[in-house]
Amino acid sequence: MKSYIIEGGNKLNGEINISGSKNAALPIMAASILNKGITKLYNVPDIHDTKIMLEILQILGCKIKKNSDKIIIDSKGIKQFEIPEQLMREMRSSVIFAGSILGIHKRVKLSYPGGCDIGARPIDLHLKAFKKLGVKIDEESGYINCECEKIVGNDITLDFPSVGATENTILASVLAEGVTIIQNAAMEPEIVDLQNFLNKMGAKVSGAGSKTVVIQGVKKLKDVSYNIMPDRIETGTFLCMTAATGGTVKLNSVVPEHLIPIISKLEECGNELIVEKNSITIKSSRKIKATDIKTMPYPGFPTDMQSIFATMLTIAKGTSIVIENIFENRYKYIPELNRMGAKVTIEGRTAVIKGVKKLNPAIVKCTDLRGGAALVLAGLVAKGKTEINNIEYILRGYEKLDVKLRNLGANIIIKEGE
Ligand code: UD1
Repeated sequence: MKSYIIEGGNKLNGEINISGSKNAALPIMAASILNKGITKLYNVPDIHDTKIMLEILQILGCKIKKNSDKIIIDSKGIKQFEIPEQLMREMRSSVIFAGSILGIHKRVKLSYPGGCDIGARPIDLHLKAFKKLGVKIDEESGYINCECEKIVGNDITLDFPSVGATENTILASVLAEGVTIIQNAAMEPEIVDLQNFLNKMGAKVSGAGSKTVVIQGVKKLKDVSYNIMPDRIETGTFLCMTAATGGTVKLNSVVPEHLIPIISKLEECGNELIVEKNSITIKSSRKIKATDIKTMPYPGFPTDMQSIFATMLTIAKGTSIVIENIFENRYKYIPELNRMGAKVTIEGRTAVIKGVKKLNPAIVKCTDLRGGAALVLAGLVAKGKTEINNIEYILRGYEKLDVKLRNLGANIIIKEGE
C-alpha cells in the first residue's frame, strides 16, 4: 500500500502542463486493434490504467513499444478474442475492448465486470446495442459470449447517454456492413477524440459531440498516428486545488471549451479565471462562496469532478448543495472528509455541505480515484500532516500528481508501504 504524506497549508503558485486524457486514451487504445497494423499514439498519460490497457493489448497478440508518452502498437498479429477475467476485474473500463474485438473477430468473450468502487456499473446498454448490430449474446456462469457471422449497421437509440455504450457501439460499427445511427448518444469530448482518431485511421464516423452519431462501415483501415486530447478532469482538479489553497496557477495544454461548467462555477465561487486559447490561469484569494452543483451528462457538470469540487466547497462561506445524478455510490469519500472536520450530510443522491473555517489534518484512506483526489485537496488545505492511504486508486488516473503539486509549491511525498 502506498500513501501520500502532505504537510498542508501551502498556497499553490506556478505553471504546469496538463497530461493526456485518461478517458480518451483508454477507448483509443482499444480502438487501435481495428486496423490490424501500426498505431502511434502521443500524449498517452503514464498511469496505471493505461498500463493495464497495454497488458491486455499484449495478451490479445499486439507488439508494444513505449517511450515516455509515445506508444507504438502493432496489431498485425492479433488472434485472441477473450479479455482475461482478472484484468477485466482489475479495470472495469476494459469492457471497451468488446466493441473493437467484435469488429475484427466477430466474436468476443468477456466476464461480467461486476460492481466497482463507485457503483454497480452495468453493461446492459452495451449488450443491447451489440444485439441491434446482429450479435448473438449468450451468458453463462459469469461469462458473456458475443458472436455473429457479420455485423450489420442499424438504428440504435440508447436509453441513457452512456459514454461507454456510445464508444463500444461506435467501435463495433466501424468495420460493419452498412450504416449505424446512434441516437441519444453521449456527447463527451472524449467521444469526439475517438471519432477523430478513427477517421484518421480511415473510418467514416460523424456527429460525435452531438446526440446523433453516424457510422458508415468501411472494409479496411490504415496505419495511424494520433495525439490524445488533454485531460479535462485533471485540469479541473488543479483548478479546484488552487481555488481551495489560494495562489495563482497557470495550466497549459488544455482545451478550455471542455471545462465551461467548471470554469463558470469556479467564477461563481469568487475566483478569477483567465482563459486563453490553450491555457487557463486561476487567481484565488481562498475566499470561496458556497454554490450548488448537479452532475449531468456532458455538457453538464461532470460526475468525475463532483468529489473534488464538493471538497473545495467544504471551506466555503455558507451552505452548498450537491446532487449526484450519474453514479449512485459516489459519496464514499465523505466520511473520510468529515473526519478532517468537514460538515457534510448525505441523503440519497444529495449532499449538504455546511462550510467550515478550516479542515484538520488526519489519517484517511482513498475509496476511489476521484474521491482520492478530493482527499488530496483536503490534505493541501488542512494545516499540518495528513496521511492518505490506498493511493493506488489515485495512481490509476493521475500522472505524477505529487510531482506536479510539488512544482506548484505543495509539500507532498509518496510513502511506499509494505
Ligand atoms: C465514463 C468514464 C467515467 C465517467 C463516466 C460518466 C471512462 C473510462 N470512464 O464511464 O470516468 O464518470 O463516463 O461521465 O471513460 N449505465 C447503465 N448501463 C450501461 C452503461 C451505463 O445503466 O450499460 C449507467 C451507469 O451505471 C451510470 C450511467 O449509466 O449510472 C453513466 O455511465 P457511463 O456513461 O456508461 O459511464 P462509463 O462509460 O462507465
